[in-house]
Amino acid sequence: MAAPPSHLIAIYPGSFDPITNGHLDLIARGSRVVERLIVAVLRNDSKQALFSVEERMEIVREVVRPYSNVEVGSFDGLLVDYAAERGANLILRGIRAISDYEYELQMALMNRRLRPELETAFLMAGEAYSFLSSHLVKEVVSLGGDVSGLVPPMVEARLKKRFGHHANTTRTS
Ligand code: PNS
Repeated sequence: MAAPPSHLIAIYPGSFDPITNGHLDLIARGSRVVERLIVAVLRNDSKQALFSVEERMEIVREVVRPYSNVEVGSFDGLLVDYAAERGANLILRGIRAISDYEYELQMALMNRRLRPELETAFLMAGEAYSFLSSHLVKEVVSLGGDVSGLVPPMVEARLKKRFGHHANTTRTS
């Protein structure tokens, strides 16, 4: 049996369009249990993104600044190939509710099939963020709602700017 690696280097992959306080909560938890944590922004996403990959990376870089063992990268192609390239031995993902489990299980098992030596670990997001998603945050801001406390202040400002200040005053009749 192979000896366990003494150093955990984790990849935390996602779209991060944009990063939320739920993601940040997971980064904070992850940074306490691994030696190095690489937040990896997906490049070749089929979903139409609000922020470019460069913008998302810039935002993530800014908000993870307090964590000395967290860095930011981006990838396209297979996550397991990027993990190998970066010398990571762990994929980190968050689970908010049981509804996340099926999709996460599928991905974890596919990644294991592709690269058996790479483990996936799940951390539970703080309960305050169990309903939170980037998708909902974008929808709320686009309709003029308040997302303070759900995303870092700089993300809130960027979202408001992207959707325009008068998002909440638009009327169709
Ligand atoms: O934040 P998201 O959008 O739920 O993240 C999804 C992500 C980036 C983890 C997933 O789409 C991914 O790993 N994509 C890379 C392509 C890949 O490796 N696919 C095969 C394994 S499931």
